[in-house]
Formats: sequence, structure tokens, C-alpha cells
Amino acid sequence: MPHIPNNLRGARITGWGTALPEKVITNDDLAKTMDTSDEWIRERTGIHRRHVGGSTASLSIESGGKALLMAGIDPSKIDALILSTTTPDRTVPATSARVQHQLGLRCGAFDINAACSGFVYGLVTAHGLIAMGAENVLLIGTDTLSRITDWSDRNTAILFADGSGAAVLSAVDGPGQLMGWDLDADGSAEELLYAEIGGNLHMDGKEVFRRAVRVMVDSAQKSMAIAGVTADDIALVVPHQANIRIISAACARIGVPMERTAVVLQETGNTSSASIPLALFDAADHGRLKAGDLVLLVGFGAGMTAASSIIRWGEL
Ligand code: ACO
Repeated sequence: MPHIPNNLRGARITGWGTALPEKVITNDDLAKTMDTSDEWIRERTGIHRRHVGGSTASLSIESGGKALLMAGIDPSKIDALILSTTTPDRTVPATSARVQHQLGLRCGAFDINAACSGFVYGLVTAHGLIAMGAENVLLIGTDTLSRITDWSDRNTAILFADGSGAAVLSAVDGPGQLMGWDLDADGSAEELLYAEIGGNLHMDGKEVFRRAVRVMVDSAQKSMAIAGVTADDIALVVPHQANIRIISAACARIGVPMERTAVVLQETGNTSSASIPLALFDAADHGRLKAGDLVLLVGFGAGMTAASSIIRWGEL
């Protein structure tokens, strides 16, 4: 089990931003073109509407630009750009190259793909870069799943959508925010959720549901053990926004009530890499977090990946 050495240079989130496309598709809109209903989608998933449109680069530039502005940092001071996405705009080059250029960054830029766990994978990677001497890292989670969704397939079209969330992480004296982390994958479950290159998403929803709860709980428990905290210490759980029933089952087993859980999926649907930052920064923007609060980020996704981290919120 990984542990965080005491003498590592830590990091703190100093700015953030989000982006959702203007176009909204409601459940009623979907019911006009496929055999489903607003009532079924709300009851089975918790989703009311979703935003679709834009490209992975355009949404990333919007959220990343807001994060830089809030951090009050000149783009030339960013030492690395990490873009988590499963829906790059091109196969080559990485979409982060375009984002790097458009935001005026002069640093290394790379994409990572760990499906819906990607933002937490990126968060841990950013901390690693800062421990190795980077001063500031821009981390962006963006997906445009609408482009790889079969809009006539009611198994997937009701779930997936587009969005982006970004954070600037800056080096601090002392241990910083990250207290515990866990990254997992089980490639034997690849066939449960996949899209061929150029193809649409295929999913065994029931089996993904069953495993999602298990891997989220398992990952959250590992991060809490590394951080030396229990569920009672957690002020807010920020889970991957896939299905309200997955979230409530996982949070019940982790031992945190729904009042201490961040949920935005009624508005966003499942935006994969963007889902955890959209929920985290919505909570921050609505004053749900105060300095010193412990936040558990926990996600799962295709691969089947899972990832979690415990961060101590705010200026320390
Ligand atoms: N509208 C109306 N009826 C539907 C719909 C729909 N959209 N979809 C399925 N049904 C029907 C089924 O045909 C079935 O009918 P039957 O009982 O007559 O056979 C009934 O509703 C129940 O179907 P289930 O598949 O059992 O529905 P379930 O409660 O499992 O919900 C869902 C399906 C929402 C897909 C759920 O399984 C789920 O959320 N799974 C997890 C998916 C997920 O999180 N994926 C993302 C992973 S993260 C990433 O990497 C992108």
C-alpha cells in the first residue's frame, strides 16, 4: 500500500474553473426519440438533464482559463499541463497540445486516459510532479462523451454528456493537501464498457453498476487507511457522478450520509473525467467547504479503473 513520505513537498489547489456546453438535453427530449421517460430516467439514475456540445479542447480552454484567473497566475508560470480525457479531439496529437497553445502555456503537456477515474489519477500525478520540483501544475478533466454515444441506444444515451473542470495546483511549504490516495484498475473487465476507435460506447450497465459500488468502497477505504482517518472525519464525499443509486449505495457502505455528499448529476449527467471536478467545485462555489475540511474524492470507470484521494481543503 503506498504511503506519503513526511518530507515530500506538498501542493494546494489555488484556483479552479468549470465549463458546461450551453445546449441542454432534457429527459423529455430523449423520450421523443427513444422508448424511455423522464420518470424512468430520474428514478433509475437521478439525472434530469445534461449539457452537450463543444470539443474537448474548447471546454478545457474555458475551464482552464478560469482556473488560471482564479489562481491569479501568469500562464508562463505553469510547469506542466495534465489533461484527463477519454474523448480526445484527435488521435494524434494529444488534445493537451492545443489547450497548452491556446492558454499561452510554455510547458510540457500530456493527456491521460483512466476513464471516469482520470481526474483523481491526474491529481495524484500532479502531486508527484510538484514533489519533483514543479511549482505549478494545471490539471483539467474534460470529456465530450456525446460524440461517442449512440443517441438511439437507451442504455447509454440517457447517461452520458459533456463538461470540463480544472484546477491549478501550486507547491506549498509543508505537507500540502493530499493525505491519502489509491489508484486501481482491473483490465479483465474491459468488455463491460468500451468504445472501439471511431465507434460508440457499449456497456453492460447492470454489471458495471454492481462492480462500481464495490470498487469505490474498496478504493475509498484504502485512501482513508493511508490518511489515517475514518468516515466520521470526512466532511464531504465527492463521488463520480454516474448514477444516484451507485452514489447512495457506495456512500452508505463507506459510512457517510448523503447530506455530506456532493451531487450535481441531476444537471450534468455522467461527464466522465469532468464529473468529480464539476461536483467538487460546485460544492466549493456554494460555500460547502471550509479550510481544514477533509474531502474524499472517489471514482470508477472503464478499465475498470477506480481511484480515490483524501484532501484537506483550503489554505493551511
Ligand atoms: N428507459 C426505460 N426503460 C429502460 C431503459 C430506459 N432508458 N433502460 C432499460 N430499461 C428497461 C429494461 O429494458 C428493463 O425492462 P424489463 O424489466 O422489462 O426487462 C428495465 O428497464 C430495467 O432495466 P435494467 O437494465 O435492470 O435497469 P437498471 O436499474 O440496471 O438501470 C442503468 C440501468 C441506469 C444503465 C444502470 O444499470 C446503471 O447506471 N449502470 C451503471 C452505468 C455506469 O455507471 N456507467 C458508467 C461507468 S463510468 C465510465 O467509464 C464512463
